[in-house]
Amino acid sequence: MLTIKDLKKSFSQTGAPLINNLNLTVKTGESVSIQGASGCGKSTLLSLIAGFETPDGGDISVNGLSIAGNSKLDNTFKAKDIDNFRKQHLGIVFQSFNLFDCFNAWDNIAFTARLKGNVDNDYQLALMEQLGILPLAQKPLSQLSGGEQQRCAIARALVHRPSLILADEPTGNLDETTSETVSDLLFKTCKEANTSLVVVTHSQDVAVKADAALRLHKGVLERVNCESTEQTLSSPIAAS
Ligand SMILES: Nc1ncnc2c1ncn2[C@@H]1O[C@H](COP(=O)(O)OP(=O)(O)OP(=O)(O)O)[C@@H](O)[C@H]1O
Ligand SMILES: [Mg+2]
Repeated sequence: MLTIKDLKKSFSQTGAPLINNLNLTVKTGESVSIQGASGCGKSTLLSLIAGFETPDGGDISVNGLSIAGNSKLDNTFKAKDIDNFRKQHLGIVFQSFNLFDCFNAWDNIAFTARLKGNVDNDYQLALMEQLGILPLAQKPLSQLSGGEQQRCAIARALVHRPSLILADEPTGNLDETTSETVSDLLFKTCKEANTSLVVVTHSQDVAVKADAALRLHKGVLERVNCESTEQTLSSPIAAS
């Protein structure tokens, strides 16, 4: 479960804050999509959640562990713990896949689990089968299509059983049909693994697949006006 409270972030001393008292809760197994204009701070928000950036104020916690901000909890993470936190709790899917060209598909996917010292070959086999990439396991990355590579990236993000997946424009480099297939698999696989998902996207088609469709605007998250959002949103979203 991801909880963000009164999050603030600015890259400029003088301009309006990029993230301005933003609140969000994503329950276990729930998905949210975040849309918004280019430059409004979507990737910055994911970087804050992943601990790559430090907030100016507020708090972010994953499964009750405070990873950033002003929490008075004893378990507030220190900088040295952030790396372990990512290995344990987070899976990240990037627009540009960020796979290793020198590895085959299987070794790319196994990479995070190996880092964590928690390799589960059976689970990796099951994930690759579910994502339709098992026959490609021994192929070099250079011989895979964009959609196949992104499915490897999704398997890699999930294989160490994280509780939260952060996906930054995961279909941004894919054609419409492949985008549809890959995004369906992303949402379905996260749901089946009971993994929370935050997906940033410019695609309305992808955004509406989430349990809650949100938009980042003027530093806060607003509901996108669609039926499913009202029905499934589990928490208050900050009002602007
Ligand atoms: N490390 C940084 N230092 C200074 N400014 C930054 C830094 N990272 C991002 N910014 C600025 O913050 C703003 C938001 O950037 P961000 O990458 O979060 O936007 P975005 O919503 O993801 O946009 P896009 O849809 O184009 O990917 C931009 O103006 C960007 O230049
Ligand atoms: Mg971005």
